[in-house]
Amino acid sequence: MDHEQVGRYRRIYVWEWPVRMYHWINAIAVILLIGTGFMIGNPQNTFYAAEAYQQYFFGSVRFVHFVCAFVFFFNFLVRIYWGFVGNRFARWTNFITFRKAQWKEMKDILSVDILQAEPHMHHKIGHNSLAALIYFLSFLMFAFQSITGFAMYAANTTAMLPRLFTWVVPIMGGDFGVRQWHHAGMWFFILFTIVHVYLVFYHDYVEGRGTTSSMIGGWKFERKDILE
Ligand code: HEM
Ligand code: HEM
Repeated sequence: MDHEQVGRYRRIYVWEWPVRMYHWINAIAVILLIGTGFMIGNPQNTFYAAEAYQQYFFGSVRFVHFVCAFVFFFNFLVRIYWGFVGNRFARWTNFITFRKAQWKEMKDILSVDILQAEPHMHHKIGHNSLAALIYFLSFLMFAFQSITGFAMYAANTTAMLPRLFTWVVPIMGGDFGVRQWHHAGMWFFILFTIVHVYLVFYHDYVEGRGTTSSMIGGWKFERKDILE
């Protein structure tokens, strides 16, 4: 941004603290779930430094997966709640992207993201329409991963929450099927994370509105002439 422009920007509080807390707890939990899930799915001989009865390494890997799973699940419930009571940028209405203007915005964003074109229109200050649609799909995947995860976990426990999901096992053709789907779900999160972080940095660069730091401090910047 050129220095002359500085006074012409307004600071807008976009992400309230529950959204920011949710985001970073979720990001850390998902990264740990991917790391431990990957090890559970592909156990390597090199993980074992001694006889099985002399160590508990794999038990710890599973333990970390399960602790993160519970954190991830309850954190997700907080975000669902905040979609009903939060500010206009956090509300669920943002994630339903059926309006014509939103499809137009998506087309413009695709040309910016893929063809590296100049934006032809002004993108929304909260989530842009394409990001909102992808976040909505990722929320559905959060639910899918939780349902399949708890369905597997139910075999380990008599606790009520996981046992609510035992009906999933016969539908997916047994425990093996559930594991396969849960494993496939992991790849969604790996791809999502790579593309998401790239796009956050890229939009920060092309729009110059403070996208990346908005998830830390909550503020974005907008040109006054656009707001007025
Ligand atoms: C983004 C979230 C998550 C990811 C990426 C993830 C990933 C994985 C992966 C890749 C596996 C190994 C599957 C295989 O290939 O055999 C696994 C196993 C498992 N996950 Fe998750 N998971 C997630 C969330 C959850 C949640 C919310 C639960 C709920 C309790 C859960 C419970 C389990 C259980 C019970 C197993 C089987 C462990 C075992 O048999 O040792 N996961 N997970
Ligand atoms: C270093 C890593 C990351 C950075 C810098 C980052 C940054 C951001 C930023 C700036 C936004 C708001 C974008 C906008 O204005 O539209 C956002 C939203 C979001 N990010 Fe990330 N992110 C990171 C990792 C992750 C990970 C690992 C996940 C989990 C899969 C994730 C899931 C989300 C979701 C679901 C939203 C929507 C937030 C909501 O409205 O609830 N992020 N991220």
